[in-house]
Amino acid sequence: MSSAFRLAAVLACLALPATALCAAAAEPVVSERLRDLLGRMTIEEKVGQLDMPARGGRYSDEAVEAGRTGAVLNFFAPEDIRRVLAANDRSRLKIPLLFGLDVIHGYRTQFPMPLAEAASFDPSVAERAAYWAGVESKAAGVNLTFTPVADLARDPRWGRIVEGGGEDPLLSGLFAKARVEGFRRAGVATTLKHFAGYGAVEGGRDYAPADVSLATLRDRYLPPYRAAVEAGVDLVMTSYVSLNGVPTTASRWLMTEVLRHEWGFEGYVVSDMNAIPEVVLHGYAETDREATQRSFEAGVDQDMDGGLYAAHLADLVRTGAVPEHDLDRAVLRVLAVKERLGLFDAPPPDPDAARSVLGASEVRDAARELARETFVLLKNDGGVLPVGPATRRIAVIGAMADDRVEPMGNNVAAGTPDDTVTILDGIRQRAGVEAVEVDFAPGCDADCADDSGFDAAVRTAARADLVVVVAGEPRDYSGEGSSRADLALPGRQRDLIRRLAATGRPVAVVLLGGRPLALGDIVAAAPAWLMTWYPGTMAGHAVADILFGDEEPGGRLPVTFPRATGQVPMTYDGLPTPRPGRDDVRYTTRYLDTAHGPLFPFGWGLGYGDVHYGEVRILTPRPAATDRLRVTVRLTNRADRSTRETVQLYVRDPVASRVRPFRELKAFGKVALGPGESRDVLLDVPVEKLGFHLEDGTWIVEAGRFQIFVGRDASAPLAGEIVVPETLTRSPTGRAADRFETGHLTALPTDQSQK
Ligand code: BGC
Repeated sequence: MSSAFRLAAVLACLALPATALCAAAAEPVVSERLRDLLGRMTIEEKVGQLDMPARGGRYSDEAVEAGRTGAVLNFFAPEDIRRVLAANDRSRLKIPLLFGLDVIHGYRTQFPMPLAEAASFDPSVAERAAYWAGVESKAAGVNLTFTPVADLARDPRWGRIVEGGGEDPLLSGLFAKARVEGFRRAGVATTLKHFAGYGAVEGGRDYAPADVSLATLRDRYLPPYRAAVEAGVDLVMTSYVSLNGVPTTASRWLMTEVLRHEWGFEGYVVSDMNAIPEVVLHGYAETDREATQRSFEAGVDQDMDGGLYAAHLADLVRTGAVPEHDLDRAVLRVLAVKERLGLFDAPPPDPDAARSVLGASEVRDAARELARETFVLLKNDGGVLPVGPATRRIAVIGAMADDRVEPMGNNVAAGTPDDTVTILDGIRQRAGVEAVEVDFAPGCDADCADDSGFDAAVRTAARADLVVVVAGEPRDYSGEGSSRADLALPGRQRDLIRRLAATGRPVAVVLLGGRPLALGDIVAAAPAWLMTWYPGTMAGHAVADILFGDEEPGGRLPVTFPRATGQVPMTYDGLPTPRPGRDDVRYTTRYLDTAHGPLFPFGWGLGYGDVHYGEVRILTPRPAATDRLRVTVRLTNRADRSTRETVQLYVRDPVASRVRPFRELKAFGKVALGPGESRDVLLDVPVEKLGFHLEDGTWIVEAGRFQIFVGRDASAPLAGEIVVPETLTRSPTGRAADRFETGHLTALPTDQSQK
C-alpha cells in the first residue's frame, strides 16, 4: 500500500468505528526491496519467517540452511551467533535473522531489575540502562530483546512483578517507553510483553487465568502497553494466560482490534515461548492445527519455539483455510522489522570487537550510578545512616553480602558472577578510605534455615559501632515460575535480625528482593532499612555509595509494602468502600489480625535531607477538560546537606458514574535542593487524563469536583479541589482516547525561588 493510501486508511480509522477500512491500517508499509523479496519466496520460506526456534529447543542448522527459520532465540555467545549466521549464508535467499534474547536488565553487565528501576521514579534511569544493555547485546550479535515487560503487577505474590514497573499504570508506562527508547538508541529491536493482563493472574499464581472488567483493563492494565506501542516498540509478545476466558495467544480482540486497529501498532506479534500449542491445553482448541489457525487469525505473526506454524501453516494456506494474502502480510511485518533495524545491510558481529565492549568500564560506571538511584531508604530512625565519623568498626552480617550471584538478579543473559562487586567488597573498599574496620560473619545462608551461625554473628556484631545486615529474598524467589504464598523474610532471617538488635548496636538492614516483602513487626527491631532490590554487577559500590552518604538515596516505592501477606493484593489506588478500614471499629474494611493499611505506602522513600512542603497553590481552579491542571508548591530543605525530593501529585474524582480510586498518580518529578534551599515547583497535568473508561471503552472526564493531593508519597495530604465545568467523552475507536500522556514537574527558575 502506498503511504498516501495508508494515511487515508488511518484517518478513516480515527473517524469510524472498527470497520474493514480500519483493517487496512494494519497492512504493513513496505519497501520495493521487501515486495520483490516476497515475490521470490516459496510458501515454506514464508512460513519459515514466522518460526522462531530456540537454542536447545527446536533450533537446527538444517532448518536455517533450508530458509525455514526467520528468527532464533537464546543464542548469546558471539561465536554461536556467527555459526548460525554461517548456516544462514548457505540458505537460498540469505534473509537476515533476528537473534532474540531476554536482555531484561543487562546483557553482560547487570543493571538493576526493572522493578528497581521504576523505584528511581526517573525514566531516564531505565533509558540509560537499556541503552548500555543494548550496546553490549548488539556488539555480541543479539539484535532483538524481549523487553519491556509492561505487565501491571498488583499482586506481589506473582514472581514476575520483578520484571515490570510495579503497580501504577503511569509509572509502568513511562518505564516501558524509556526501555524501548534506550534499546532503540543502541540499535536493538524491542518486544513489548506479555500482551495483555498477565500481571492480573489469579492469586498471583504464575500462568493462572486473569479475569478483569473491560473498564479496569482499559483504565489500568492497557496504558503501560500503549505507552510502549506509542514509543515505537518493534514486537509485541502474547502471554501464557487466558484473559476473560480467551487465551491471549488466540485473542483477536487483543492482537488485532486493540493493538492494530485502535493503537495503530506497526511491528509484528510473536507468541510467548510454546504458547501456541498451549492454546490446546487451555481448552480453547481441539487440535494443534486448530490452535495454529486460531492464533494466526487472531494476529499472531510468529511462533516462538512452539513448532506449530512450521508444522501446519503451509498446509492451512494450501487448503485455503488461511488466505495466502494473510501469510504474506505476516511475513512482510517480520521483514519490515529486519529492514528497519538495518539487518539487510549489516556486517556480521565481530567477536573480537565485542570483547572490548562487554563489561567495559564505561558500562560498569553507568551500572553503579544507575543502581544507587533505585535504592529506597524505608526507615532511618535517629539518622543511623549515613555512616558517621564516630563509626570505626562495621560488622557486615549475612551470606548474601559475600555472594556474587545473588545481587545479579534473575534473567542475567550473558552475565557472569566474576564481574560482580559483592556488597561486602564494596563496603570494605569504601570503609578502607577512612580506615574503618570491617568484620564479616554470614550468620546463615540465603535461605536461612539453620541458626548454627547466629552466635558467631552476634559476637561479631557486639564488637562493632554499626551492624549492616544483608537480608531478604534470594534471587530465585522471584521471576518466572516463582510465585510465593508467604512474603515474609525467608527462613530464620527475622530471628537473626532480632538477635543482632539485642546487642544494642545500631542495625541497618540492607534488603535484597524482587517484590514488596511483608516485613511485619520485625521492621521495628532495626532503626534503618534500605531496600536495594537486586542491584546488579556493581552492587557493592552502589550500596557503599549510599551507606556512606556519598550519594543521596533517591528511590521511592513503585509498589505498596503490606504488613502481612494476607493483605495482598493491596495497592494505593484501591476503590473507596462505605466502611473504610479502622483498627478500632470491627465492621470496617480491615483484617482482625493485622493493623489496617500498608507498612510503607506507594511512593514512600526517605532522603538524607529534611524537606518541608509549603502551601500548594492551585493555579487553575476551573480548568476545561481540554486544559491543563496547574499547581505550584514551595519546597524547603531544612538540612545542612543537599538532597533530592520526589514530588508526587495525586488526583481523586470523589463523585462519578463509576466509583473512582482513592487517588491516582498523575504527575511527579525530582527536585535537587541545596542545604537550606527553597524552591518552587510547578506540576501540570492534562485535565483530559483525569477521566476513566466506561465498560464499552468510552473515555469520559465527568464534569464536577476533583481533589488534588501533593506530597512525598501516596498518603500525601489534600491540597484543594478543582471543578471541571463540562463533561468530555471520547469514543473507544478514536485513537486520541487512550493516548498515553503524563503530567510534568518543572522546577521554576531560581529567581522565582528563595535561597
Ligand atoms: C517468558 C518470556 C520470555 C520467553 C523467552 C518465556 O517463558 O514468559 O517472557 O521472553 O520465555 O525466553
